[in-house]
Amino acid sequence: MTTDGTDLKLAETNHDIHELLRRRWSPRAFADREISGSTMSSLLEAARWAPSCFNEQPWSFVLAHRGDVVAFDRLLTCLAGVNQVWARRAAALMITVAKLAFDRNEKPNRHAFHDVGLAMENFSIQATAMGIAVHQMGGFDVARSKDVLGIPDGHEPVTAVAVGYPGDPETLDKKTRTSELAVRIRRPIAEFAFAGGWGRLL
Ligand SMILES: Cc1cc2nc3c(=O)[nH]c(=O)nc-3n(C[C@H](O)[C@H](O)[C@H](O)COP(=O)(O)O)c2cc1C
Repeated sequence: MTTDGTDLKLAETNHDIHELLRRRWSPRAFADREISGSTMSSLLEAARWAPSCFNEQPWSFVLAHRGDVVAFDRLLTCLAGVNQVWARRAAALMITVAKLAFDRNEKPNRHAFHDVGLAMENFSIQATAMGIAVHQMGGFDVARSKDVLGIPDGHEPVTAVAVGYPGDPETLDKKTRTSELAVRIRRPIAEFAFAGGWGRLL
């Protein structure tokens, strides 16, 4: 195991999957290390190339590096207290945002959140490839983030995200460290993949 616990968190898969997918996880311990502008651009470039319904790319990201203290704190205050405890050490924080209507006809885009998720997974896997960790959060104040970040009408915050190089779990308080070191678990394939009709075993 490395000092940041990364090896411990490798997915124990039942079937072969790509190594990057095994290695991606959501840590709470971050190293005191900045993410350079060009590295962040690579992560955003990966997000940029995600698929989306009608190629509308309904995602936006409001981002602050920790060095930009005012902007970083503004994002941090949007997070739930339980997330602020550890996310304040991330190299950068983001709020992901979905545009709720299609540009092409202004009708509701029911795939907008889905497509933001696809962009975020691209971002996360690129980050994993570059030795960077990404931790998405639903625990944030949506109304506050709209307000303090100036997110326009017709757009909805989706997640908060902490981004940074993985750190040492020993830097975490005891409760957070317990979550950090917990074994990663998943439902078996048979519970979510069906053969030709709901509930039918593959
Ligand atoms: C939409 C979403 C919301 C999440 N919300 C939180 C959160 O508020 N706080 C937190 O610590 N983790 C949060 N997580 C992280 C999940 O708990 C984590 O992805 C899950 O337990 C699986 O662990 P893994 O990513 O390490 O494989 C969230 C993840 C997603 C995708």
